[in-house]
Amino acid sequence: MLSERPTFDVRLGAEERTRALRADAVAGLTASPKWLRPTWFYDAHGSMLFDELTRLPGYYLTRAEAAVLAGHAAEVVAATDVHTLIELGSGASTKTRLIIEAGHEHGTLRRFVGFDVSESALASAAATLSARYPWLAVHAVVGDFTRHLDALPADRNRLVLFLGGTIGNLLPPDRAQLLCGLRAVLAAGDALLLGVGLVTDPDTMVRAYRDPDGRTAEFNRNVLRVLNRALGADFPVEAFDHVVRWDAEHEWVQLLLRATRAITVTLGAVDLTIPFASGELLCTAVSTRFHRAGITAELAAAGFTVEQWWPDDTDRFAVTLARAR
Ligand code: SAH
Ligand code: TRP
Repeated sequence: MLSERPTFDVRLGAEERTRALRADAVAGLTASPKWLRPTWFYDAHGSMLFDELTRLPGYYLTRAEAAVLAGHAAEVVAATDVHTLIELGSGASTKTRLIIEAGHEHGTLRRFVGFDVSESALASAAATLSARYPWLAVHAVVGDFTRHLDALPADRNRLVLFLGGTIGNLLPPDRAQLLCGLRAVLAAGDALLLGVGLVTDPDTMVRAYRDPDGRTAEFNRNVLRVLNRALGADFPVEAFDHVVRWDAEHEWVQLLLRATRAITVTLGAVDLTIPFASGELLCTAVSTRFHRAGITAELAAAGFTVEQWWPDDTDRFAVTLARAR
């Protein structure tokens, strides 16, 4: 029995994180329409809020994905003989336990690598997993999966988890780049288990982000608090309304913040003043919904062959097992 402490590789330390946030904020807030990368929601507070969101009654995605994983974990580990389980955007790594336990039962799993931009979420998940599974070597990479995939350790029989529909928070070109970059650090025969939200009725998709208690709104506004703290900005956070809409052309749910009055924001750290007109929108995230054919083609273009397609029994979410060729 192994019982080592988790190891950490910090690719995005405080300083580099602030530098990246600053560059994104300048690019996004001076653009028209204004936008921010959803990656910046996840400071310690944001990661905690996100964990609550996954349990909201209307947020069907986490439950649907967990049901699929519970039903197919044994097949996944048998098909991959997973030795090293890697998880991108791992967060609390809760659903991951289904695969870890199946991998242990199957007898091949030895190592887990969590990869997340949120150091606090990663530290807490790594501690939990390593206490719960003393036989598992746990490694954590604090990094941006659009930049630091080279931090993934080489090893045999790797299985990469990318769950929660997080791939849908990337825009199409960034998605293609991430999948190609991932393929480049994998070896032929390694596998990817990818969770994606499916196109379903707009009301269901939108309601996942419109909870009556305003928890999702608080999460959405958290990005402004992050900017206030990290960049010395003065966003009046409560003056922004949480807006959710379905964009049928792009097939994504858009999360936005709407200025309820004319607002001038100063970003102290970058010496920048940003005017918001009353009613002006800031896009903070897209959450793309997929069709089987589309995501299969995107995976194929990046060098992955889809071997399994497992939709949940409401057809609102699917998990796909793909192989690097
Ligand atoms: N996998 C979990 C969490 C999904 S939320 C689940 O299915 O519930 C998205 C996660 O990805 C968060 O933990 C967030 O911190 C992380 N994340 C977002 N953008 C990232 C990026 N660019 N690089 C690495 N992690 C990122
Ligand atoms: N991957 C999740 C999704 O797109 C991220 C998410 C969940 C999210 N709830 C959110 C993003 C609320 C912004 C706001 O569903």
